[in-house]
Amino acid sequence: METEKNTRKLDRKDILGIKELSVEEINLILETADSFLEVSTREIKKVPTLRGKTVINLFYEASTRTRTSFEIAGKRLSADTVNITASTSSVVKGETLIDTARNLESMNPDIIVIRHSAAGAPHILARVLKQSIINAGDGAHEHPTQALLDMMTIKSKKGAIAGLKVAITGDIAHSRVARSNIHGLTKMGARVFLAGPATMMPYGMEKMGVTVAGRIEEAIEDADVVMALRIQTEREKQCIFPSLREYAAHFSLNKRNIGLARKDVMIMHPGPVNRGVEISPDLADSASSVILEQVTNGVAVRMALLYLLAGSGNA
Ligand code: CP
Repeated sequence: METEKNTRKLDRKDILGIKELSVEEINLILETADSFLEVSTREIKKVPTLRGKTVINLFYEASTRTRTSFEIAGKRLSADTVNITASTSSVVKGETLIDTARNLESMNPDIIVIRHSAAGAPHILARVLKQSIINAGDGAHEHPTQALLDMMTIKSKKGAIAGLKVAITGDIAHSRVARSNIHGLTKMGARVFLAGPATMMPYGMEKMGVTVAGRIEEAIEDADVVMALRIQTEREKQCIFPSLREYAAHFSLNKRNIGLARKDVMIMHPGPVNRGVEISPDLADSASSVILEQVTNGVAVRMALLYLLAGSGNA
């Protein structure tokens, strides 16, 4: 039996960022993801929706959650999924991104999911390839599928996103998760507060419709949702805080400062978690934490996107 799906269409070839999605498109993706959620709870976790379609996961950066959930999402929809990791591909022999993509295109896949350290890499592929491209994270630019699964998780717990106070704390400067969530949450009507060290807070973030808090406590106070971000040391060109211990002392989420938030606060983190740095282990494992529900919803969101782009959900 096939799952009941949304009959509305997504009129676009690629998913490159949340910035260019309308509220209607975000709602369509979230509603479609909701309808796919139960497939993962069945004894036989498979529907024939994308039988005969091919999805290539092309990852130039490390990933546990995103790559695995795209692969599982494709398999649960009966698509053929292929994983390519740059470090074990001909990229190490010097092949360019475009040449790699052109060669993959020649094998006639339907969707290419790409993660790359360079902002804009998925956009280049979207321009030159006929296949649908999904951005699985490009540098510090956007991580649209993460923001969609975060919005799905918030909506499922809180009923709606509009009117909520959402605090995003930590390394804003290097975070594609922060950027995609800021675009999505503000479009959906949330009040977004940012807090982090001055060296990790880009100048002029207020132009994105958010409030930049001077102290982490100001961001957390009365928050409905608090999202901690990982420090992205791999993207830092120089040391921008004295030590992890000092960072944790001033910016870690913990049982003490979370007491300022609403009683029913949701604690989120995109993963991977640096326990004891941006969040204390007891808080990450607490009843308020939805970190693993985010991961579960990630499979449903990625099933929805594959279906909307390659199935009959595409216009
Ligand atoms: N949240 C996230 O993108 O995790 P991975 O890097 O493990 O995919």
